[in-house]
Amino acid sequence: MSTILDFMGGDHRACDDLFAAAEDAAAQKNWDSARSLFERFQAAMAHHLAMEEKVLFPAFEARTGMSMGPTQVMRMEHGQMRDLIQEMAGAVASADHDRYLGLSETLNMLMQQHNLKEENVLYPMSDQVLGGELDDLLRSMEAVSTEPEAP
Ligand SMILES: [Fe+2]
Ligand SMILES: [Fe+2]
Repeated sequence: MSTILDFMGGDHRACDDLFAAAEDAAAQKNWDSARSLFERFQAAMAHHLAMEEKVLFPAFEARTGMSMGPTQVMRMEHGQMRDLIQEMAGAVASADHDRYLGLSETLNMLMQQHNLKEENVLYPMSDQVLGGELDDLLRSMEAVSTEPEAP
């Protein structure tokens, strides 16, 4: 039996691995490889953020009644991460070594702090309050679409 912490913590590691591989390739100016690894990182992050914003956070908010609490902070940080990822896409497309590595360092700091907060606080709290609906929740998260939500 898995937990939200195991499942989502494992997904953090998978995103981190792609991030590090893309950074290594960019550091070596191996741009073909950097671009394809960055694209995979971008897709993995889009899916991860969608799992949280469309499934996990709404379930947490509905169960706890806390819609202005930790999930609100996490959503704000997702916005900052998306902006940085967008800028990195420009840097990798134009093979801008210094710019890519600078942005990459900033994103890495933000992402590690963000992930720690989720793994130390939000995921364990979610496991506590959502334990009863875990199977449905994990299934919905895996199946989530990365398309923007209809207004
Ligand atoms: Fe998050
Ligand atoms: Fe996360």
